[in-house]
Amino acid sequence: MTAALDTAPMPQGIDPIAFRNACGAFATGVTIITTRLADRDHGMTANAFMSISLDPPLIAVSIAKTAKMLALIEGSGRFAVSVLASGTEDIAMHFAGRPNPDIGAPLRDLDGLPVARRASAVFATHVDKAVDAGDHVIFLGRVSALETSADAQPLTFHRGRFGKLHEETPPLLDPAWMLEGNHW
Ligand SMILES: Cc1cc2nc3c(=O)[nH]c(=O)nc-3n(C[C@H](O)[C@H](O)[C@H](O)COP(=O)(O)O)c2cc1C
Repeated sequence: MTAALDTAPMPQGIDPIAFRNACGAFATGVTIITTRLADRDHGMTANAFMSISLDPPLIAVSIAKTAKMLALIEGSGRFAVSVLASGTEDIAMHFAGRPNPDIGAPLRDLDGLPVARRASAVFATHVDKAVDAGDHVIFLGRVSALETSADAQPLTFHRGRFGKLHEETPPLLDPAWMLEGNHW
């Protein structure tokens, strides 16, 4: 049986709210993108994060042209991505334009860049390419350092809400198989 989809008429093109709601159906993790420019650290929350290439190791993020982060990455030529762990909604909101004076010191150093302390994985990169994309700029970053915390559960984001995984199935794929032919 095919599940019915909600439909919205769009006579004059794609309605931005319908578009945002449709994109929000895609469940993601939550990251903090960070950079350092002249000893000034800056972070912003983002869920537009992708792994791109294994060889060379590339990741991508998409940053709104209105975000302060854009000029800072253009200036530094570097950015880091911290994949937030479950229970870090406070950090996600702090770096999403709701600064929290009680947040303490959420960042530490990795390869000359700030990264989140409470993360399940962190990547430091050098900008490989910037792609103009409508009201966003996509940055490809070549990974120079990374760390993972195998035990950490992820913070999730779906339809505008933070969440967590309720249960996990056994691994579907042998990790060694995933590297054959550079499949993920
Ligand atoms: C869960 C979540 C995901 C977000 N994802 C992105 C994103 O991928 N790209 C983006 O430009 N902004 C994203 N934002 C919005 C930015 O975090 C927000 O605009 C921030 O204040 C920008 O910081 P800045 O202007 O200080 O650099 C997201 C916000 C939240 C709460």
